[in-house]
Amino acid sequence: MDFPLFHLDFFGNRLLIATIAILHVLVNHALAVGFLPLVVLLEYLGFRKRRTDPGLAATWDDVVRRIMLVGFIITTTVGAMTGVGIWLSASLVNPASLGSLIRVFYGAWFTEWIIFILEVVFIMIYFLTWRKAGESETAKVRHIRFGTALVIFSWLTMAIIVGILAFMMDTGSWTADKTFISGFVNPLYLPQLLFRTPLAMMMGGAFALLLLAFFARRTPDARRPLVSFTSLWLLVWTPMGAVGAAYYYLFIPDAMVGNLPTAVGTMAFMDWHSSLLTVILVAVLLSVIIALWGFLAPRRLPGVVMALPIIVLMVFLGSFERIREFIRKPYVIGDYMYANGLRMADYPLYRRDGLLAHATYVDTPAVTADNTVAAGRNVFMLACSRCHTVRGVNSVITKFKDMSSDGRTLDPAAMKSYIPKMHNVWFYMPPFPGTAAELDALVDYIIHMDKHADESLPGAQDEGVAVAHEEVARTDENRRGEGGAP
Ligand code: HEC
Repeated sequence: MDFPLFHLDFFGNRLLIATIAILHVLVNHALAVGFLPLVVLLEYLGFRKRRTDPGLAATWDDVVRRIMLVGFIITTTVGAMTGVGIWLSASLVNPASLGSLIRVFYGAWFTEWIIFILEVVFIMIYFLTWRKAGESETAKVRHIRFGTALVIFSWLTMAIIVGILAFMMDTGSWTADKTFISGFVNPLYLPQLLFRTPLAMMMGGAFALLLLAFFARRTPDARRPLVSFTSLWLLVWTPMGAVGAAYYYLFIPDAMVGNLPTAVGTMAFMDWHSSLLTVILVAVLLSVIIALWGFLAPRRLPGVVMALPIIVLMVFLGSFERIREFIRKPYVIGDYMYANGLRMADYPLYRRDGLLAHATYVDTPAVTADNTVAAGRNVFMLACSRCHTVRGVNSVITKFKDMSSDGRTLDPAAMKSYIPKMHNVWFYMPPFPGTAAELDALVDYIIHMDKHADESLPGAQDEGVAVAHEEVARTDENRRGEGGAP
């Protein structure tokens, strides 16, 4: 309400954030959090072989450095850019929610940014000094210690962010006492951290296995022990990942019960929830079988099979993130702010005075007889556009048409009776926030857009902003006058 609204009518705002965020989580978990500790450990193990088998130690170190090159490139490009991209896209799409999160987590955010910058600097130094560190033993020891610090920092950034992500799902006692600690140590914090940590380690091992298939191909002497050790890593972390997943899996329904009002929604969720169980079992079993194979008979493990665990684990993490997003709806911040960026506590105000009356950046402060389409458009923007487009992904016109018997017509009366009930039909939609006149205007707008296929819905980035209340502008002028401006 207090921000101009960015909008992508073709791609959809939800999809923009989802694409960037999922890419980021995959890179962050598999590479930064999980892969780095394995690389540092492998570097150390190679270093220990320098006396007994200098030839193997040199090849070993070279292979590990080369797989780290891939990790280095991906984390500092895709990883770092999508990390910044999440906050950029979130502040464009839902500035109100980010504003609230920053108020609660100001210090955590600040700390996170410092740690993140250090992480990127450390990863650069760690990789770029690798060759030079081989010149003396003391330099190599220092390099490995440095790597250890990098590992800790990578985990810490995740440990902080998980606090914020878990808070968005379940604010716990924060809604009552509003302290930083009650927000950060929310009911889902530990379950998520205990689940994500071993999962990241598994993914790091699985990613290393994939890279070894390429980079150790020509050096069978190093390939055998490297594949064997990496498989052992996967074997050790998989049971912990399974326990973490089970813990989390059992925890979700409790969080759901608190968050979700309707039986229909719970049923839809249960389908996803049980499919998650299947994905967990398949991912764990496959990882164990391949890791056992790689550990016992590394020479016989074909390259193609070495690519499987990372693929399966990515599907696993992808499904998990989907469920995580799913259980949070209709809120962007559990029990506090709906996904449309409106606070629950402000709803009575909007219903009494109208949504438009409280919006800053609209050109129609109220619905009148001759502005219904323009006012309806603003209502759509405020109440629906964070999740729906007019003509693109999750198009509101298509959704309403799909509900009609022939799949092609819009029925204004049916739409008007549906919208006030929509949050009961699909729990992931917030209740409609406006007045009866605003509801009529919204329906007029959707019908108008269906008839005028050439009209589009641009966001503030394309068409600029209008300020609703002239009084506001006038008050500003008055203030300037009082301030003694010439
Ligand atoms: C928090 C995100 C969100 C908001 C806000 C939201 N919706 Fe939805 N809506 C959804 C999702 C998700 C679906 C289901 C899409 C699917 O399953 O294909 C949906 C489905 C629908 C459907 C089809 C329902 C059915 O039973 O088939 C209609 C109609 C609809 N929305 C209208 C609206 C209108 C009008 C608004 C604004 C007043 C709105 N929605 C606000 C997320 C949202």
